[in-house]
Amino acid sequence: MTETFAETWLRLREPYDHAARSAALAHRFLTVLPAAPRVLDLAAGAGSNARYLMSMGQGRADWVLADADRALLAAADLRTARMERRALDLARPAWPRTLARVDGVTAAAFADLVSAAWLARFARAVARRRLPVLVALSVDGRVAWTPQDPDDALVLRLFRRDQARDKGFGPALGAAAPWRLAADLRARGYQVHMRRSDWRIGSKDRVMLGRMIDGFAAAAADAALFESRDAVAGWSDRRRAQAAAGQLRLVIGHRDCLALPPSGSPASRSPPLNSP
Ligand SMILES: C[S@@+](CC[C@H](N)C(=O)[O-])C[C@H]1O[C@@H](n2cnc3c(N)ncnc32)[C@H](O)[C@@H]1O
Repeated sequence: MTETFAETWLRLREPYDHAARSAALAHRFLTVLPAAPRVLDLAAGAGSNARYLMSMGQGRADWVLADADRALLAAADLRTARMERRALDLARPAWPRTLARVDGVTAAAFADLVSAAWLARFARAVARRRLPVLVALSVDGRVAWTPQDPDDALVLRLFRRDQARDKGFGPALGAAAPWRLAADLRARGYQVHMRRSDWRIGSKDRVMLGRMIDGFAAAAADAALFESRDAVAGWSDRRRAQAAAGQLRLVIGHRDCLALPPSGSPASRSPPLNSP
């Protein structure tokens, strides 16, 4: 079954996503594309990834926004006519047909939802067409609350169990996704570049902090045995009080991954990537 995401959640996270991303990797992805490229954004939701890439100066692209959720696609606004909304279930084996006639593939906040088998098929499909790939904002497992709490480790352990739930693609990779993606693409001859793209949620970001506390607590409670539920509830109460007092901060680790196809294809004939 497809995991659903509320548009309000995608809008709330968008500024954190955009602030976190590696501009160097995004820029390099855009520079290896042809002058007026057709770019496929997988699991595009309401278009946040394309909005970010357009803000990096790619105004001449034709965007194909693909997602299973028609309501999210309908809400996508790129302020350009050069956008196609494509309702597409990426869990179906035929989805790679969408790669025909595109010059590059991107996705954001998606790789951690899929399984190892799905990523292997993805790598095979993009490599067959030698497409440049930019996969942004995959969680990498780092979660740092400030101040620390004695039950952080318990909540995180339970949260990770929930993260591995099948989201429609088989057992979800969660924090293993960035490394798996990089390994699969390297095995196909790609040159892979990874950068950190961490969410930094400050003490004034009360709405986002509240969302994160509720999200961690709900997922942890679902995965908890009966006796751990009180500990999770206590953790949530303490974290809410700290957030209300402006005393809580949070960093969530993510990785951006740029993969350039093997030499011989246009995308590989560009200068080396500088450090961000
Ligand atoms: C965390 S959201 C990210 C959305 C967007 N890329 C962004 O950065 O805001 C994950 C997206 O995956 C999409 N998704 C989940 N399962 C899917 C499937 N089987 N086929 C296509 N899209 C799917 C959801 O509809 C949602 O838009």
